[in-house]
Amino acid sequence: MDKLKNYSAPKDLLKDRVILVTGAGQGLGRTAALSYANHGATVILHGRKVRKLESVYDEIESIGKEQALIFPLDLERAEEKDYFTLAHAIAQQLGRLDGILHNATYLLGLSPLEQQTIEQWRIMLQVNLIAPFALTNACLPLLKASTDASVIMTSSTHGHNPSAYWGSFAVAKAGLEALVKIQADEWDQMSNLRVNTVIPGLVNSPQRVITHPGEIKQKLRQPEDLMSMYLFLMGADSKGISGQTIYC
Ligand SMILES: NC(=O)c1ccc[n+]([C@@H]2O[C@H](COP(=O)([O-])OP(=O)(O)OC[C@H]3O[C@@H](n4cnc5c(N)ncnc54)[C@H](OP(=O)(O)O)[C@@H]3O)[C@@H](O)[C@H]2O)c1
Repeated sequence: MDKLKNYSAPKDLLKDRVILVTGAGQGLGRTAALSYANHGATVILHGRKVRKLESVYDEIESIGKEQALIFPLDLERAEEKDYFTLAHAIAQQLGRLDGILHNATYLLGLSPLEQQTIEQWRIMLQVNLIAPFALTNACLPLLKASTDASVIMTSSTHGHNPSAYWGSFAVAKAGLEALVKIQADEWDQMSNLRVNTVIPGLVNSPQRVITHPGEIKQKLRQPEDLMSMYLFLMGADSKGISGQTIYC
């Protein structure tokens, strides 16, 4: 990982690449989508609320970058066929896919396990663990056809080191890290496919304001501060790195 020290992404790092970003309407996902577009990618903006995605779309258009596409899908309700519909639409409209940033997340709130219900667990595992698995699988034919495809899963320190009250969220994020290890092992012989986990650490975002209302936003890192890592992992400079958990 020495390559990452002082990494500065070339302006055309993602030229001619198509990258799907989940949860692209706000926070880290929004900043990553803009950053990928700024470095030449055609970005597919996934999220739940179309209005937010349209605002990112407009921003990409206003800086004169490759036009983005918008694919809303509520991951809480998504069924297997919905992921294949999304992958089919990417194939039809863009003909390729070179990377996925699985960034979308949902946190119902913090509580002791004894107060958590099966329905809450179902939702948390669905959005935070099953959706990244299902979306990657549905997109696999496209990723396999790419000469250099990168998949990034987003975990959390609470998944890596679970602690009280983080319940199903921590379990889902820990599951993601296991998923990455398994997937990287299965892709070991496929030099064009890699998958890694990022752990952003403390970053100012709309979610963070809800989970940590007492924090002083200005003292946190901003999503922009993490973008050299997000670019490095998505672009060709990280080729050969797979199955890693990377702290930002
Ligand atoms: N911020 C931090 O300090 C921090 C720390 C550790 C890990 N992380 C991880 O970094 C990633 C980004 O964090 P963030 O703070 O930027 O998150 P955020 O502000 O909460 O944004 C989450 C995104 O996920 C989307 N989303 C939520 N539920 C969805 C659903 N059912 N279907 C589709 N999309 C859904 C939201 O879309 P809508 O807005 O359209 O609803 C939103 O764009 C997450 O994976 C998070 O766990 C963040």
